[in-house]
Amino acid sequence: MKQVVLITGGTSGIGMSLAEAYLKQGAAVAVCGRSQAALDRFSDAHPDALAIQADVTIDAARIAMLDAVANRFGRLDVLINNAGTFVERNFATGVNTTQDLEQEVALNLTAPIQLTSEALRRWPTMTAIVFVTSGFALVSPTRAPTYGAVKAGLHAFAEGLRRQLAPRGTHTYAQKPLLPQLHRRAYTPEISASFGCLIFKRLHVRGVERHDRARLPHGRLRSGHIEWREQVGIKCHHIKGIRFVIFVLL
Ligand SMILES: NC(=O)c1ccc[n+]([C@@H]2O[C@H](COP(=O)([O-])OP(=O)(O)OC[C@H]3O[C@@H](n4cnc5c(N)ncnc54)[C@H](OP(=O)(O)O)[C@@H]3O)[C@@H](O)[C@H]2O)c1
Repeated sequence: MKQVVLITGGTSGIGMSLAEAYLKQGAAVAVCGRSQAALDRFSDAHPDALAIQADVTIDAARIAMLDAVANRFGRLDVLINNAGTFVERNFATGVNTTQDLEQEVALNLTAPIQLTSEALRRWPTMTAIVFVTSGFALVSPTRAPTYGAVKAGLHAFAEGLRRQLAPRGTHTYAQKPLLPQLHRRAYTPEISASFGCLIFKRLHVRGVERHDRARLPHGRLRSGHIEWREQVGIKCHHIKGIRFVIFVLL
């Protein structure tokens, strides 16, 4: 029986790559996003997938989205909470520091929790729930402290949830894509052979080796270039065959 996967924010970036990886693996895939144009492009490229217009911050839209998944596939096995946004705020300037803060918190933190809750109510024995968080959950970015706060919150939620759901066999993962240029590796079909998100972690470590002492960037995947910013220095050592990765705050 095909695995049924729902990916929020599946029309772009990491979400779309995961959708394509799961489709190649033979899974039944549903994605959501707000832009109908982006959904249409996704449907044209992937006619077998279900593309749902839904703003995950809106209660009724989340319910309608799960209804659509139920109607089309009858169940859900894997929920990937991926939709998120990065908002820069400089509290030192005191200008517009909390503009649209509720929306940022809703998208990056509240919506994934609400969606997970509703999905679990309908399908208590889902195989896996994934939260795409960020390396900034561990080291909050100077230019976007609220992003660090909400991603850390999501990470903490996933940790507790993982322990709650483990006895019933549902795997819960909080994944922290650290290096955007490495996401391209995560797009490959080999990664989809297993839970792509889980394997992100190992890819990151291999990538860190290649990009020894690289600076941790945060950019938008679709922009075609990476905006390098000073965040964290990374150094990788091998001592007696054991790999040590050291993160250094700059
Ligand atoms: N890219 C990075 O460097 C990076 C690094 C670490 C973590 N992350 C995390 O990885 C996730 C994906 O990032 P990305 O860079 O791949 O994102 P992206 O390319 O900007 O794509 C975001 C996706 O989410 C959808 N979306 C946005 N707001 C939505 C809403 N309210 N309801 C439903 N869908 C919505 C977008 O479609 P619409 O705009 O049409 O709604 C789009 O499909 C995010 O959680 C991000 O924080 C990214």
